[in-house]
Amino acid sequence: MATNSGKSSLETFRLFSSTDAKTNSGFGLFDAPELPALPLPPCVEVLASEVSPSEKYAVDLVNLDGLTLVKGRVNTQQVFGLSNSDLVPGRYEGGLKLWEGSLDLVKALCSEIKSGHADFVGKQVLELGCGHGLPGIFALLEGAGSIHFQDFNSEVLHCLTIPNLKANVSRKSCPSEMKLPNCENEAEVRFFAGDWSEIDKLLLSSSKQNQGAGYDFILMAETVYSISGLQNLYCLIKKCLRQPDGVVYMAAKKHYFGVGGGTRQFLSVVEKDGLMAHSLVAEVTDGSSNVREVWKLSFKCNENSVPTTLDPL
Ligand SMILES: C[S@@+](CC[C@H](N)C(=O)[O-])C[C@H]1O[C@@H](n2cnc3c(N)ncnc32)[C@H](O)[C@@H]1O
Repeated sequence: MATNSGKSSLETFRLFSSTDAKTNSGFGLFDAPELPALPLPPCVEVLASEVSPSEKYAVDLVNLDGLTLVKGRVNTQQVFGLSNSDLVPGRYEGGLKLWEGSLDLVKALCSEIKSGHADFVGKQVLELGCGHGLPGIFALLEGAGSIHFQDFNSEVLHCLTIPNLKANVSRKSCPSEMKLPNCENEAEVRFFAGDWSEIDKLLLSSSKQNQGAGYDFILMAETVYSISGLQNLYCLIKKCLRQPDGVVYMAAKKHYFGVGGGTRQFLSVVEKDGLMAHSLVAEVTDGSSNVREVWKLSFKCNENSVPTTLDPL
C-alpha cells in the first residue's frame, strides 16, 4: 500500500499469486532497486480521450464460466521501468497485473445477479483499485448507469483500464441488449487516479447524477493486502457509499502471508467501527493458492443487511 512513511528504500513485493504467475511462489522479496520515497501522486481525473486508439495493445481473452471478457497485456518494465515486481509500495501498486480476486469477483457478481441479489441497471458504481477493471466493466455491461474506475497510478488507467474498457465494449459478441457507452442511454464512464487517503472529494464531486450522495455499489478486488492501507480504504468506503442501501463487494485472499493484510484483517477494522455488516458471498479453495473470499458489506441501518460474526483471526 502507498504510505508517506518516508522510508529511504522501497521493497519490491511479489504477492502470490496473479494469474500471470507461472507458479504460486508465495510471498517473497525480490532484488529491489534502491528508490527514494515519493510524495503521494496528485488526485486527478484521467480522460478516456487522452488515450490514443492507435496505441499498441495486446489482448487475451478471459473465460469466466461462459462469460468472455478481454484483458490487455501491458509490460511493467515499459510503463514503470520496473521488472519482476508485482508492486513497489508508494510507486506502483500492482494495477498492471490481473489478480485472481478480480475474476472471483466477476463470477460472484454473476451469481448475485442470477439469484436476484444484485442488479446494476441504472446504478452508480465505483471500482476501487481497478487495474484491468474487469468487475467494473462487467457492471457496465450489466447496465450500470455510471461507472467510475479508480487506481493509484494514472499510468495504469492510461495504459490498461481505458483500452480494456474500450476493447470490451466494442466486441461484436456483446449481446445486443447490453447498454454500452455511446448508445442512446449513455452510461457515465470516468477514471480517477490517486491515493485512497485523498481521493474522496474528487470522487464525490465528480458524480453528476447522484450529486454527491455516493455510489450504489463499490467493487474491489485484491485491495486489502497490506495492513497500512486498510483504515484509509475503509474511511473512503464509508464516505463514498450511498446511505443507507449502498453495497460493497470485496474479493481478496483471506490472508496475505508476509504483508499482513487480508479479508479478515479488513473485516476486523469494519467490525471495530460497528457501522457496517458483512456476509460471505463465496469462498474459493482451488488448492493452488491461499483461500480466497468474496464478501458483501452494507450499512447496518439497511434492514436487508445480514450481520455475521467472523471466525477468530
Ligand atoms: C493488487 S492490485 C489489484 C488490481 C485489480 N483489482 C485486480 O484484482 O486485478 C491493487 C490495486 O489497488 C490499488 N491501490 C493499492 N493501494 C492503494 C492506495 N493506497 N491508494 C489507491 N489505490 C491503491 C492499486 O493501484 C491496484 O490497482
